[in-house]
Parts: sequence; C-alpha cells; structure tokens
Amino acid sequence: MNLSRRQVVAGLAALGVAGLGAGGVRYWLGRTRDVASHDYELIAAPLDLELVPGHRTPAWAYGGQAPGLELRCRQGERLRVRFINRLEVETTIHWHGIRLPIDMDGVPYVSQLPVKPGEYFDYEFVCPDAGSYWYHPHTASAEQLGRGLVGPLIVEEREPSGFAHERTLSLKTWHVDERGAFTAFSLPRLAAREGTRGRLSSINGVPNPTLELPAGQVVRLRLINVDSTVTYRLNLPGGEARIYALDGNPVEPRPLGKDHWLGPGMRLDLALKVPAAGNELPLRNGPLRLATLRSVASGEAPGDWPPPLPANPVAEPDLARAETLRFNFEWTATLADPRKGPARYWQINGQAWDINDKRCAERPIASLRHGGHYIFVLRNMAQYQHPIHLHGMSFKVLDSDRKRITPYFTDTYLLGKNETARIAFVADNPGVWMFHCHVIDHMETGLMAAIEVV
Ligand code: C2O
Ligand code: CU
Ligand code: CU
Repeated sequence: MNLSRRQVVAGLAALGVAGLGAGGVRYWLGRTRDVASHDYELIAAPLDLELVPGHRTPAWAYGGQAPGLELRCRQGERLRVRFINRLEVETTIHWHGIRLPIDMDGVPYVSQLPVKPGEYFDYEFVCPDAGSYWYHPHTASAEQLGRGLVGPLIVEEREPSGFAHERTLSLKTWHVDERGAFTAFSLPRLAAREGTRGRLSSINGVPNPTLELPAGQVVRLRLINVDSTVTYRLNLPGGEARIYALDGNPVEPRPLGKDHWLGPGMRLDLALKVPAAGNELPLRNGPLRLATLRSVASGEAPGDWPPPLPANPVAEPDLARAETLRFNFEWTATLADPRKGPARYWQINGQAWDINDKRCAERPIASLRHGGHYIFVLRNMAQYQHPIHLHGMSFKVLDSDRKRITPYFTDTYLLGKNETARIAFVADNPGVWMFHCHVIDHMETGLMAAIEVV
C-alpha cells in the first residue's frame, strides 16, 4: 500500500493535474499544450477504506484510491498506462467508451490474457473522442467493481472548451453493511431481477459529501455512474443546470429536467451555474440526497454558459443503405443448476453468455462487415431495464417506441422495460467486441454477447 501511495503521488506530479485547492475547491488548471504524451503507472492493490466512520472496508483500488485515480488525456493524443497488478487475483482493464484498437480493449481471452498477480500490462492507445469516460476490469466483475476497481478517464477537448472549472463525480453505491463489511455483490434471486444493489451511496468514495463550488461560476460536473447496479435518477432542485454531453458525446445544451436517468456505465456532463456564495444545492437520486453543493466566494467575475462542445469525429451511419439486425434481450426461466455452471437468467437472441467459458467469443452473435452500416433493433422483453453497451464503436440512438429521442451518439443506451429502440453505426473498428448489459449481475448471468467486425 505504501508503494501504491507513492505511485499515485508520482503520477500526479508528472502530469501536473490540479490538486485540491484551498477549501477543497478544485480548480481545473488544464494542461500545457506542449505535453506530447501522458504516462501513468497505475497499480491495482488492496486498500482499506473508511466508508463507515470507525470501520474498515477491505477495498481494492486503482492508484491508491477508490474510485480510482483520475486519468486524463487530450483528444487525439496517445494515452499510455502501465498497469501493475498487485492484487491476489487476475484482472484486466477495460476503457469504457473509448474507441480503441481491439488488443487494448481489456477483455480476458477475447482481446488479451488476464494480467496475473505481480504482472503488468502496458495499455497504449489514442483517444479519438473528448469527454467523460471510465475504466474498470472485465474479469470477475461483480467482485472487482464491487470492491472499488472503477475509475474516471477524462479526455480533454483538443481546444479549450470554455469551461474554466470542472469536477468529476463518480457515483457508486457500496455493498457494505453498517460496520463497513462487504455484503454479497451478487445474489441469484436479485441477479434474475434488477441486480444486487449496494446500500451506501457515495460520490468519489465519500457518502453524502459536501462539495464546494466557486460562486457565480459555471462549473462542468462530470457525473459518472461507476456502479454495478443502480440507475441514478439525478436531479438538482433549485439549481440552474444544462446538459452538455451524454456518455462523452456532446449534445445541444438543454436544461437538466427533473430526474435524468443515469444507468450503470453512463455519464452526464452538466454545466451548473453556481449560485451566490453561501447557497447550498442538493444533488439527488430521486428524493434522496447524494451530495450537497455549497457555493463559496471565488473572487472571479461571474461566468457565462460556454458554447456547445465540439462534436466528436464519429462516423455518421447512412440509414438508407444500412443493414438491420435484431437483438432480443430476454429473461429466461432456466433455474440455476450449479452442476451445469453459473446461473443463466438472461439471454440475447436465445444465447446466454457463460463467463466461465473462455471460448464464448468464438461464437459471435453477429458478424459485421468492416466499413458496413448497421441498424440494430434492441428489444427488451423483460420488465427490468438494461443499460446496453457496445465496446469499440459509438452508436447513434435513433428512436424508441417509449419516448421521444433526439438522435445522439453514445456507447450505452438505457433500454427501459419492454422498450424497443433503434441504434445505428458504422462498423469501422475491426475486432471482436463485447455487447452487453452493464448491470453486472445481468452481464454475468447471460446478458452479454460478442459482435465481430471483419
Ligand atoms: Cu464498461 Cu464491457 O464495459
Ligand atoms: Cu465498454
Ligand atoms: Cu440488464
């Protein structure tokens, strides 16, 4: 743990990432333009947390903190991370939402071998899109994400975005009891339903924190749902906030309505006009307070809404010549039989993924032509919602039979109960890509498939 602590400090110093300023207000200093590359040494290791006052939680952490060290990179530049595994279990890192080459995608036995205890792996890829992303293992996910192996990855815009201030808020609901001990990350009875929820909600690892923000300024809040189960229904009563990006991808700024649903894996970039000094705003999940945003005097001239963020260079699908493929997400009544391997409660087009079968990816559920245009019809046949995520490529959400959609690019779409939605994309990244529900319980009990682009 000493080691990981030292590495964190070294990593931060080398990067010139803004630290905590006076009063805990974190002012973003940006990055000098002449930094050609960014190198991190990221260590996964056990770390005791004090989530419940006076009690110890035996977490696992990236870079000595859980959620993990915030990694940053500039759009179009190469991110190089030497990942060192000091856990007692094997693991990998997946870079959620980054359109990268398949061999950097971090899925064991699909894109790489697991990184064994004591080993390291060099991840290195260009980040083509600016926005808020995150990273997590793709091995034994219920336990590894559950214990804290989740972290933000921020890709800064090529040119300064117009936001002078920003904060990253990683949302996680810990599976711990009143004494800080871990409770089950996955219970079969719940895996077959909405997934196993934790009990203690937190932001950046702190339950119900007070976050200080500069009065009168417009602050970019990067909300990242790093949780395994919970869909947060975010609202900021009394706050003046606008949505600038969904899952990393810019949208035409619009007011944050009441209850923005943020499923596991999803992100929301908000601009918040911080009220006059001394005011407090509750950031809530439905009626429940997640954090208090406190306005503190900043001594700066009041800020105004920045212009919309520039679009990311995602290829536009041509619907006229797109091929349509259908995916049904089904609940299956097959009961768990421990002699036949892990429980399978979910399937896609009649196929359940088996997390213990290293060869599942050799049987892709669909094979796409490199450069081809595709429409996927996603049909949820169950009464539980599924945040459906695709690796390697961003897709455009076209429409839904349940709600009005202004088409936008994303990597995760929250498919509501019994909803049918259409997405489209250009299969421009060759590889075998995972396509799965980001409720980890669902993913680990069948709701995952491989899609190959050849
Ligand atoms: Cu967050 Cu398979 O990914
Ligand atoms: Cu992903
Ligand atoms: Cu699901």
